Formats: sequence, C-alpha cells, structure tokens
Amino acid sequence: MNETRRALIDALADGPIDGPALADRLDVSRAAVWKQVEALREAGFGIESGDDGYRVVEIPEYGAEAIAFGLEAPYRIEYHDQIGSTNDRARELAETGEDNLVVVADEQTGSRGRLGREWIGPSGGVWASLLLRPERPPAEIPVYALAAAVAVARAAREAGAEAIIKWPNDVLLAGEEPTQRKLAGILTEMEGEADRVSWLVVGIGVNANVDAGALPDGATSLREATGDVDRRVFLQRLLETFHDLTGGDTDLHAILDEWRQLSATLGQRVRVETPGETIVGEAIDVQFPGSLVVRTDDDERVVHTGDCEHLRPV
Ligand code: BTN
Repeated sequence: MNETRRALIDALADGPIDGPALADRLDVSRAAVWKQVEALREAGFGIESGDDGYRVVEIPEYGAEAIAFGLEAPYRIEYHDQIGSTNDRARELAETGEDNLVVVADEQTGSRGRLGREWIGPSGGVWASLLLRPERPPAEIPVYALAAAVAVARAAREAGAEAIIKWPNDVLLAGEEPTQRKLAGILTEMEGEADRVSWLVVGIGVNANVDAGALPDGATSLREATGDVDRRVFLQRLLETFHDLTGGDTDLHAILDEWRQLSATLGQRVRVETPGETIVGEAIDVQFPGSLVVRTDDDERVVHTGDCEHLRPV
C-alpha cells in the first residue's frame, strides 16, 4: 500500500471529507483522489459521496486496507492471502530497510514456532509479524514478546475469551488444568550488535477462526472458545495495545505489571527445561526483561529462557 493510499484511509477514517479537502490533505490532485477512492472501492470499501463529501459505509472483512482503516498505531500493513511464513517475509523486508511494518496473512504454509518447531497456520487465523527497529539494547528484547502476549490476551478477552499467559508468552484459554489449551504463540527473532538492535520481528500466531480439529493436540481456537471473531478489529486492538506498551520511549518495565495480571504461571508449580538443566519449583515472579523467578527446594532461581510446564501442586 502506498503512502497516499494510507493517508486517504486515515482521512476517511476521521469522518466524511470532500474531494478538495482530501486533495489538500493528501497533497495530490483531485483526479488522483478520485483514482485512489476508486481503488479503495475495488478493494471492497463501500464509499458514498454525499453533500458532506466521501463517507465510508462499508469496510472489507480483512486485508491491508481494512486493517489500516482506523488503526491507532503507526504500522504499515502488508497482506497476503497465502504465504510461507509471515516471519520469513518480515525478515526479508528487514534487509530492505523497512520499519514499523506488519506482514499479515490469512494462511501460512510454512510457519515456524519456538525452538525450531512447526506451527500450523490454516486459513482463518490471525498470523502477523511486526518488523520494528527499537532503539534498545538486545538484552531488553525479551520484554517485547511479553508485551505481544499481553496484547493478544487483551484482544482475546475483548472478544470474550478468558485468555491467560503461560511464561514466557504462550496465550492459553483459562480452565481447569490440564485442559488449559493454547490459543496463541509468539516467536521473536532479531539481529543486532552488543548494544543496539538492528531489526526485531515479533511473530504472532492466534488460532482465531479455525477449527480446533485442524490444530495440534493441546491447541484450541477462538472459534471454539467464543465463536468466530472479527479478525480486522481483533488485530487492530492487538496492534494498538502492543504499540501503547512498547512504542516510542515508553517505560518497558510497565509491561511486567500488565503481564503479571494475566499470568497463569505465577503461583504455580512449574518445571522449566532450560538449555542446560531442568528447574522445578514454584513460579513466584517475573523480572525485567522477562525472566521467571522460581523458588526451588534449595533456593531462588532466575530463569531467562526455557520451556515451561505447569505441574499439579504437591
Ligand atoms: C510458538 O508458540 O511456538 C510460537 C508460534 C509463532 C507462530 C507465528 S504465526 C506468525 C509468525 N510467522 C511464523 O512463521 N511464526 C509466527
């Protein structure tokens, strides 16, 4: 989507506006405005032109323009009906210098999960990868994954599903263990030097309007939990929350409190498989930039990374 198209979408989202005002705001000719309005109509927008100017009366269900319409976050959207992996595409775009961009797909045919696992991405999910260039040291990056989990959980709650977060960033549907099934996962990838991130990709996979039968064991979907959701609104809320939590020079430490409020892990007995050892104990807190504090029989351990399993209390 080019800049004029995005500016037109933003202008129309603010309310009815006439051709001359649009030409002025977009700094293009009236003929160019008309052409862009026609292109939006072709993309599925219902746009009426009345006495007060152009007015949007219908928004397409999903797609780049639909997601951008009324989005209160500074991200450009690139949309694909089908793609291998939105993370792979975002990484490709990182090499071209892009920033503040979200790659979105209806279906992924080669999506990836954490720890080299496969991720199933059928049509109907919310599959999105944000490409960012935060001016932060690489050591702070884990907190972005926590922010993404908070953003997903909040959007899911707004859609009526009681979402909770399993450390570090799995979003589950609340319920009696062991029936807490996975609604969403997050995969962050980055490149940088010791003191500076060059690019960061935050890949978010939400099993939205998907049959649970199409998903691996232990997974569930919003379709199963609450019925189908409006993916456009869902993704907009998610992106807006993520931007509120991480954008500009926001204090990233504040993310931890939001995470604590949605955590399914704190207070639980857990087993964490880290690259070097297995740690068993009670999860008592999360520490910046996202480490889990576990009280074992012997001492308190701060775990930076690993696979976490909730255990039954002894
Ligand atoms: C996990 O829980 O293992 C993380 C799953 C991350 C999946 C998302 S879907 C969008 C993005 N593209 C990918 O290939 N992976 C992430």
